[in-house]
Parts: sequence; C-alpha cells; structure tokens
Amino acid sequence: MLNGKKVFLIISGGISAYKSLDLIRRLREQGADVRCCLTENAQQFVTPLSVSALSQNPVFRDQFELSNEAGINHIELSRTSDILVVAPATADVMAKMAAGIADQLATTLLLATDKPVLIAPAMNVRMWQHAATQANLATLTARGISTVGPNEGPMACNEFGPGRMAEVAEIVAAIDAALSPARPLAGRRALVTSGPTVEPIDPVRFIANRSSGKQGHAIAAALAALGAEVTLVSGPSVQPDPAGVTVRHVETAREMLAACKAALPADVAVCAAAVADWGVKTPAAQKIKKVAGGAPPAIELCANPDILAELSAASPARPRLVVGFAAETENLTAHAREKLARKGCDWIVANDVSPETGTFGGDANQVHLITADACDSWPALDKREVAARLAIRIAEVLS
Ligand code: CTP
Repeated sequence: MLNGKKVFLIISGGISAYKSLDLIRRLREQGADVRCCLTENAQQFVTPLSVSALSQNPVFRDQFELSNEAGINHIELSRTSDILVVAPATADVMAKMAAGIADQLATTLLLATDKPVLIAPAMNVRMWQHAATQANLATLTARGISTVGPNEGPMACNEFGPGRMAEVAEIVAAIDAALSPARPLAGRRALVTSGPTVEPIDPVRFIANRSSGKQGHAIAAALAALGAEVTLVSGPSVQPDPAGVTVRHVETAREMLAACKAALPADVAVCAAAVADWGVKTPAAQKIKKVAGGAPPAIELCANPDILAELSAASPARPRLVVGFAAETENLTAHAREKLARKGCDWIVANDVSPETGTFGGDANQVHLITADACDSWPALDKREVAARLAIRIAEVLS
C-alpha cells in the first residue's frame, strides 16, 4: 500500500500516456497523493483537465505557470514528493535526463530532485534498441535511477519487440519497491571483480579479452541495492562506476589480486572478471620496434595468479560465500562443475560465451547457477536481471 506517499508523476509525450491516467487512478486507490506534470508533448496525448480530475490536484505544465504559484519553486516542488515517476519516459526525456538538460519544467524537476526516480520507458523498438538510448539507460542506471519495463509485444507503430510501457500494476509495484526497498544485505560486505584484465607487452601494446564488464558492474549495483557495502575491482571497462559502490580500477591480474586482498574481509566475493590467464613475463620498457625483414618478436608468457582460487582457499579471511563465473564455449555445465571443484568456490555461474550467443559485450545473458548439489538454469535475461536474481540468492544465504 502507498498510504500517504507523495508520488510526483511526470507524463511525457508518447502514445502510452493514456495508460498514465489509469496509473493515477490506481495510485490514488492505494492511498497515494498524486501530483502530475505534463511535458509539452504529453499534452498532445492527454489533457491537463483529465489529469487534474483524476489526481484531484492542480497539474503542473511549465515554469512560467509555476512561478505564479506563491511559495513554490521548482526546487521545492521536486523535493516535497517521496518519489518522482516518469511514465511514459520517451527516448527524448531519457536523453535529456542523461545529459542533464533542463529545458522545461519536467526536466528541470528531474535535475533538481534529491528523491528516488523511477522511469517507465516507452518507445518504438528501434528507438529503444538504439545505441544512444541504451547508453543513456546505462548512465541513468549507474546514477541509481530505477527502471520498470519496457515490455515486449506488438506496438502502436505496428512493430513487435521491447518498447511497450510496463503495465500499470507493474509500475505501481515498482513504485512500492522503490519506496520501501528491501535491504537484506545491510551490514554485509561484498567484493566483486568485473571486466577484463590487460597485460602489457610494451608501453603501447597489451593482451586483453572481450569482456565488457556489464555483468560484473550490474552485480555490484544489485548487491548495493540490497544494502551491501560493495567494493568493485574492475579492469578497464567503459561501464560507468555504479552509484553507491567503492570502485578500484586496475589493469593487470596481479593488480586485481592485490586490490581484492585489500578489500577483505568480505562476506561474499563474486568473481565476474575475465582475468587473463597469462601475462607477459617481462614487458618491454620501450615500444618494441619493427626490424625491416626481421622475424616478429617472440613473447614469453607466464601464468597469472588465479584470483578466484586464492579467495576460495581456506583461510580466516575467506569470504563465507565465494561465487565464480565459468565462461565456456562448449560442454558448459561439465566444464563449470569441474571449475567449481578445481577452484574451491561455493557457486559457479556458468555462461556460454561463444560468439553466436552475443554474451560478451551484449545486454543479455543465459546462465546456469551451479552449486555443490544443484544446477539451476535461468532463462535468457537482461544482465541487470541476472544480477538482481543472483543478489537475492546471495542474500538468502547471508541473511
Ligand atoms: N579467474 C580468476 N583468476 C584467473 C582466471 C580466472 O579469478 N586468473 C576466475 C574468473 O573471474 C571466473 C573463474 O575464475 O570467476 C573462471 O574463469 P574462466 O575464464 O571461465 O576460467 P579459467 O579459470 O580461466 O579456465 P579456462 O580458461 O581453462 O576455461
């Protein structure tokens, strides 16, 4: 129930704005006080009169109108609610939020607020999948903004795919969850590794791998969202640092091991990094030059430390739960089980990283959670959803 909660609903201009009228009704049924702001474009889809009638409150539209309201300015308005909800959130509004643009009342409120923000994206499938929208989503998520939907299905523009605004009941549930987040990992410490490691050959060249860091960063964010105090040790990655997480940036496997040891003690360690198994024995101090007609240089490799195995080894500093990943291209679960035994960790999250799966660098992941006596196969999910499920399983063990 949302009894007495103050919900500030921003309606931006998309065809699904009509569902926002139902959202207002449901929120009021749950006891919420709902105030609304319509963007200029939203007024093409729903009228201020219907929004005002349903919310039983005046509707806010532009900054000029606001300045006429005695005693209220945009800062105050953005902070006197318990939560700001943007439903529907168009690609345009998401882009403005990511860039910090405040060109009308709705975007100004979103920039000025210090309250939780939840967005319900709704747009054409291609607009949703566009790299710009996905980059904006990653930026907003990293800043701690919650998202509900979009859902997959037939769309008003006659296309099919993800882009439909989440159902009203889902948005109400997401508001409820955002206002009373469960924090079962409060007081627990978590260590997460993420991204690739890079091993220098000389000052300009290195050995690396295709890991993007998306899954590891999402796990760090998900554990923090459940209240854990998280240290994320990350190799070079374009992913933004997750909000509310201590991030240690490293390059090589040896640096990653040192940073992990420095982050102990921890209650749980999740090793999602794709650590280079081999480093260059003696990286050249200067750039290796080509010799005309000469043979390519021979590069001598040496084994890197196995961070997961070291964290799993019996010691007073061993985290209570150690979770590894298995990146495989064949015999997925058999290889993962063998890794569980060889490394001495408690769980392995096994994923197929064959190029055709698009796992490395992509947004989706299909994993199997392997424990000593079970193998739980999850459907293909967004990496943030995989992270959220894993965090809940971790919380079940630690709390
Ligand atoms: N890992 C690690 N340190 C290493 C190598 C791997 O901590 N030097 C961890 C990874 O973070 C992951 C798990 O071990 O949690 C398995 O990594 P993966 O690359 O799948 O396996 P490897 O141990 O490298 O074995 P192989 O390359 O033979 O599959």
